[in-house]
Amino acid sequence: MTPRLSLGDDRDEALAHAAALVAHAWREFDEARDEEPGPTPQLRARLAEPLPQEPDDVIASLDLAAEVLDASLAQSRPRYLAYIGSSGLEIGALADLLAHSYDVNLAIDAGAATGLERQAITWLAEFLGFPAATGAFTSGGTISNITALAAARERALPGSRSTGMSGRLGALYCSAEAHYSVTRAAELLGIGREQVRDIAIDGWRRMDPADLARRIEDDLAQGVTPIAVVATAGTTLTGAVDPIGAIAEVCESSGVWLHVDGAYGLPAAGAPTSRSRFAGLDRADSLGIDAHKWMFVPKACSAILVRNTSELAAAFSHQEDYIPHEGEELNAVDITLEYSRPVRALKLWLALRVHGAQAFRDAIEGNLAQARLLYDLADAHPDFRVQPHPPQLSIVPIRHEPSHCPDPDRHNDELCRAIQRDGRVYVSPAIIDGEPWLRPCFTNFRTTLDDVRITMAVAQEIGSGICRTHCSRP
Ligand SMILES: Cc1ncc(COP(=O)(O)O)c(C=O)c1O
Repeated sequence: MTPRLSLGDDRDEALAHAAALVAHAWREFDEARDEEPGPTPQLRARLAEPLPQEPDDVIASLDLAAEVLDASLAQSRPRYLAYIGSSGLEIGALADLLAHSYDVNLAIDAGAATGLERQAITWLAEFLGFPAATGAFTSGGTISNITALAAARERALPGSRSTGMSGRLGALYCSAEAHYSVTRAAELLGIGREQVRDIAIDGWRRMDPADLARRIEDDLAQGVTPIAVVATAGTTLTGAVDPIGAIAEVCESSGVWLHVDGAYGLPAAGAPTSRSRFAGLDRADSLGIDAHKWMFVPKACSAILVRNTSELAAAFSHQEDYIPHEGEELNAVDITLEYSRPVRALKLWLALRVHGAQAFRDAIEGNLAQARLLYDLADAHPDFRVQPHPPQLSIVPIRHEPSHCPDPDRHNDELCRAIQRDGRVYVSPAIIDGEPWLRPCFTNFRTTLDDVRITMAVAQEIGSGICRTHCSRP
């Protein structure tokens, strides 16, 4: 008898049907759609059904799954410009299907897949220009940051992984606009949220190295051990890139670990027009990068790269009876936070193999050009305001501020929600210096310059419409 959990005789038909659904989705993603249809009442009813006890038809169930996804906010669509999106790169999706079918576990040496992960790390290091000795793929930028900071804590306070902080005080340093995952790491590693030093930012919203040096000195004078500096290579709010070289100078003179959080922005270190913004990257101790953001592959695919393998091992290696070691050989779990790990590397490895690194550089350059175009269009428009400097990467905050608008904050809040309801473009809001802004972010290889013009036109049209309803002209 065929085991009830195999698709059995339906296998080939199910695979062909799934392939047709995927091909349909890919064709759809080539063009933006003019509305974002939410779930219908019938679909909502299906999503309230109780636990099925008996089998349902596989083709009908696949259709239902595709219907659910189609009625969801898909980041793969070219005019999804909210938060920091990705693109569900086609070859990456195929890689996931393969990886999940074999279901290799990279907790220990898994044979060729272990070699593939190492190769992908080496390729990534070359793409970015970072002298990595080792690295590992993780489930996201948050985990990459925590992993690096755990290693930094062990270097700064040896033995802390066994004794805890034992009353010792340590500190982390990052720009006031660093991602919350740095604070989360401080909370989880026992360093404490209050020990995260918000370093001042300059007019470009980048960390001020002079303030950093002062804060480290102050801490040393107070008996607080500096554990790590986190330079953000592309802040989530505006895409600011901290001056890594100048920060490395401070770290080297005080012997403090330098981690670069490049979850969003670091892929741009591989692109010719933006490479110089990341000067000094090769001096960092570690970096984190999310391939599931600006390297376009589907979630989840982040990586941590380090200069020195033994520092990751010092924080994570261990001997347990259920994972014996072969001599001195480290298992993957000796340098990673996670145990069971799928072959996340496969999607980036296959994508680089199929498309070549140059296609990635070109796509990133395309997004940078889109960001510049939006900035220029909004800057030239009398009803829009932009940040004082052109975008450093691909995030472009804009604000609709017609001269007669009595309450621009309320107006921009409302405008963002109205654009989301309209559905032609999807943008998210952001608060910058206390003011609500629209914050388009370009990280999708499907987005075009025309999409940028449409985004501006939609924002203008909807913004003016709200004004006509709510604002009285002078
Ligand atoms: C700069 C930065 N670091 C870390 C993260 C967290 O990454 P993840 O969502 O993959 O955990 C983000 C997410 O947007 C980010 O922008």
